[in-house]
Amino acid sequence: MVTNRTFTMLKPDAVEKGHIGAILEKISVSGFRIVAMKLTQMTKHDAEAFYAIHKERPFFGELVEYMTRGPIVAAVLEKENAVEDFRTLIGATNPADAAEGTIRKLFANSISENAVHGSDSNDNAAIEGAFHFSGREMF
Ligand code: TYD
Repeated sequence: MVTNRTFTMLKPDAVEKGHIGAILEKISVSGFRIVAMKLTQMTKHDAEAFYAIHKERPFFGELVEYMTRGPIVAAVLEKENAVEDFRTLIGATNPADAAEGTIRKLFANSISENAVHGSDSNDNAAIEGAFHFSGREMF
């Protein structure tokens, strides 16, 4: 994957609350192009692998349960400086600390259910995009 791409998930809480359209609108008006997108549901195995870096953390079990409880929207997004700009758009991990107007400030309730994922590096963007999409599903 080229380095002007990032990977996102609209997490189960955002989908449950009917926020898919509003969040995609913010992403679109912020200049990101959708390269790949689907509604899908992670299995326990998927979520444990995706968040393996956190497996020793006390919140890991809760995180896996949350991420698997319903459908998510997975997407690959393209924009110059995509990873950093998307992290700015979503805001801090804890919505209480997120800047006004960010997606987490607007749509998330708590650090554990924070509405949206954004890759934290170009390397992880490539790994995470490939976790959910084949090359043929990216446009
Ligand atoms: P992390 O990678 O630190 O944050 P981000 O999603 O902003 O890159 O954490 C991954 C997810 O784990 C985070 O989105 C929500 C969850 N989490 C908790 O539930 N509690 C916590 O204390 C932290 C740090 C994360």
